[in-house]
Amino acid sequence: MKVTMIGAGYVGLVSGACFAAFGTDVVVVDVEPAKIEALKQGRMPIYEPGLDNLVAENVSDGRLTFTTDLKSAVAGADAVFLAVGTPTRRGDGHADLSYVYAAARQVAEAATGPLVLVTKSTVPVGTGREVQAIVREARPDLAIDVASNPEFLREGSAIGDFMRPDRVVIGAENERAFAQLKRLYRPLYLIETPIVATSIESAELIKYAANSFLAVKITFINQMADLCEKAGADVHDVARGMGLDGRIGRKFLHAGPGYGGSCFPKDTLALARTAQELGAPVTIVEQAVVANEARKAAMADRVISALGGDAKGKVVAILGVTFKPETDDMRDAPSLVIIPKLLEAGAKVQAYDPQPHYARQVLPDAVSFVETAIGAAHGADAVVLLTEWNEFRAIDPKKLKLAMAGTVLCDLRNVFDPVLMRECGFQYSSIGRM
Ligand code: NAI
Repeated sequence: MKVTMIGAGYVGLVSGACFAAFGTDVVVVDVEPAKIEALKQGRMPIYEPGLDNLVAENVSDGRLTFTTDLKSAVAGADAVFLAVGTPTRRGDGHADLSYVYAAARQVAEAATGPLVLVTKSTVPVGTGREVQAIVREARPDLAIDVASNPEFLREGSAIGDFMRPDRVVIGAENERAFAQLKRLYRPLYLIETPIVATSIESAELIKYAANSFLAVKITFINQMADLCEKAGADVHDVARGMGLDGRIGRKFLHAGPGYGGSCFPKDTLALARTAQELGAPVTIVEQAVVANEARKAAMADRVISALGGDAKGKVVAILGVTFKPETDDMRDAPSLVIIPKLLEAGAKVQAYDPQPHYARQVLPDAVSFVETAIGAAHGADAVVLLTEWNEFRAIDPKKLKLAMAGTVLCDLRNVFDPVLMRECGFQYSSIGRM
């Protein structure tokens, strides 16, 4: 079986490398020559733990190749996956489907025989039917089946998630497409992964429903954290006590500065818009979107108030700027809201992140990046822990305090022990805990 993956981003690259590891021949295509050139030279265009080794192994075994030439990559393929971006469309909050539709058309035009065209990108319900229409119009002469196979991997643990998923969702227009996709995922049958076979519409909606539910869950615990602060309760205890109820579950009940990243913000927004248009508004998701946006801004206010209400001329150290640990992805990271607000308030911001490559490109130039966490804390009036990279858990609080000029420590991820931090002399605050 020959598979072509369109898009060498976080999803396309990981999925392509994993399918190759399953024993399939995979060609990964991208329009960005720099990405493909880097991959050909064995350099990863993104940071994802374990990806470099997985790619190297499969390239050397001859199952994984990279190209910018979509036409040759699609010729003779049995299955072509679309793993291109679906960012928020400027102005109306809908998903921008221009990359998906353009790629679908290119694939149809390049096809040399029957194939299954699978949308792996997260797309609003109805997109698959649109892709079907594009393909039918471009190639009435060919049996191109359309399917939807949304991806649930998480950046930072993407390979493990792809290789051992909770489920694989396949929506397809006919049995032939189901059969092709099931064949491709056969190695997962051995570990008894449930395969959810549905219509294309249901598969598309499953992805948005899952992401939106998780975003609502995070927003719920964040609001509980605010309530805990007012009521003198501890959100960790509340989350544990709730989460041990099997109907609720413990995951995604960690209070923090608001969700960010390449999926939840855009997917909640897109679901809300689609639902409004179809006349079945999902108001709980609309509310989560509003609450989450407000929360990110409120985090900057927290820091300013910890500094005595005035950040002018104060030095603020930010530990961690990516949207979560173990990734270099900055899309919709809370830091993109919090840091500009601190700068606006007159603070001088010095930041440290273990993977600062994209952060340097997207954060304001006024932010100075340093090479270590203690380096960032040097001369700082306040330290803000914003992304919980593991190395921050191991910071020696005495060294941290010695480096600082002030004593404010805002732990927006509840990483540190409040009692210990106060004993060390910090003016310590966290989320939903006294
Ligand atoms: P990305 O932006 O990292 O990668 C997309 C890639 O597609 C880019 O490298 C771009 O140059 C390339 N591309 C665009 N048009 C092309 C074309 N016509 N031909 C060849 N290459 C083309 O995006 P990412 O994060 O991989 O996301 C892709 C999709 O997967 C999105 O719909 C996203 O919502 C979804 N998704 C993302 C997850 C994540 O954690 N990043 C997880 C699950 C789903």
